[in-house]
Amino acid sequence: MQRITILGATGSIGVSTLDVIARHPDRYSVYALTAHSRVEALAAQCIQFRPARAVVGSADAADQLGALLRAAGCKTDVEWGEAALCSVSSAAETDAVMAAIVGAAGLAPTLAAARAGKKVMLANKEALVMSGQLFMDAVAASGAVLLPIDSEHNAIFQCLPQGYGRVPAAAGVTKILLTASGGPFLKRDVATLENVTPDEACKHPKWVMGRKISVDSATMMNKGLEVIEAHWLFGAPAEQIDVVIHPQSVIHSMVSYSDGSVLAELGNPDMRTPIAHALAYPERIASGVAQLDLTQVGTLQFEQPDFKRFPCLALAFEALRAGGTAPALLNAANEVAVQAFLDERIGFRRIDRVIAQVMEELPHGAASSIEAVMAQDALARLAAERIISG
Ligand SMILES: NC(=O)c1ccc[n+]([C@@H]2O[C@H](COP(=O)([O-])OP(=O)(O)OC[C@H]3O[C@@H](n4cnc5c(N)ncnc54)[C@H](OP(=O)(O)O)[C@@H]3O)[C@@H](O)[C@H]2O)c1
Repeated sequence: MQRITILGATGSIGVSTLDVIARHPDRYSVYALTAHSRVEALAAQCIQFRPARAVVGSADAADQLGALLRAAGCKTDVEWGEAALCSVSSAAETDAVMAAIVGAAGLAPTLAAARAGKKVMLANKEALVMSGQLFMDAVAASGAVLLPIDSEHNAIFQCLPQGYGRVPAAAGVTKILLTASGGPFLKRDVATLENVTPDEACKHPKWVMGRKISVDSATMMNKGLEVIEAHWLFGAPAEQIDVVIHPQSVIHSMVSYSDGSVLAELGNPDMRTPIAHALAYPERIASGVAQLDLTQVGTLQFEQPDFKRFPCLALAFEALRAGGTAPALLNAANEVAVQAFLDERIGFRRIDRVIAQVMEELPHGAASSIEAVMAQDALARLAAERIISG
């Protein structure tokens, strides 16, 4: 029986993870569930899955959750705050952690799971983008097992040889090919992008996701963050990572080898597949996802990304090449700009401009410690906020 902690249980990935877990009560039990402010949704999950512990973002939210659980006769212990998040992800009573908090808020608890040597199922790509080498060093030092949940990285993981040692040449790997749907604005007239609404940006043609990652998909910053994530997970330099637009989202990513082979992982676009893969790894379990029928798909298309239409993708490649704390600056500026867009404080086309200005203004340094990374994160947030308000 694997005892699972789900960080970000009320989100899109968290809900899909609980869906897979509920199909296999003989294999998985839930140790802890966390959310930020959606107390009623978390209460319903606690009542169904009976975790030992639940964590929320504030004392008020904890009081509300406690009252709901007491009324339902549910004995889950309720805690709140970052220290509690780190505690449930590193506790001796948990074997595996689904890291599915959105954004930089997930860094500390995800790192705590890695340092404690847990099986870390990583959806929270922002944590790895920010802390890169420090995170991978923590995984290596503790012997944690790191399994990617992003469908692209999970696909690449499946296409690489068992025991791949993060050295592409040693495995005959020539390229990592990250597929991208292109999001809702792949073909839209660029001149009309300034006026798109948050709801239009969040209407992804293939995937149902949280609002932040949906906007990231519309700007293609999501793919940019994934390029940086692929660099850290698979040891490939920027030159060995290509983005390929594939609107059907059936091929989740590919690996090219020196003998001319290209291996791909295919499936219906449903996050329960990579989640089930990581939960059961190296075994296979049912996920609830329908089998792919290629005759129904018919045609698979591919094209090169347009870096002018999607400047965020170019900014992410620049940050990866710059190294150090540049990806942390990029990530923080993006989080602030996306939230400002969702709050209708700025138009869609200002997202990339805010990020570019923050990257220009702030010198990046060495990512020598988590404290240094968090200090740069804070500076970038202040700068982005000043630019947006100015
Ligand atoms: N959705 C996908 O298909 C998908 C695919 C690949 C990767 N990912 C990655 O997975 C992560 C989660 O994405 P999502 O789409 O599931 O996001 P989401 O639906 O917005 O859910 C986010 C979760 O994080 C919690 N949360 C938000 N802010 C927090 C904070 N400050 N402190 C602690 N918890 C906080 C939320 O709690 P409340 O509900 O209480 O707000 C919720 O449980 C992201 O890093 C995303 O890039 C997602």
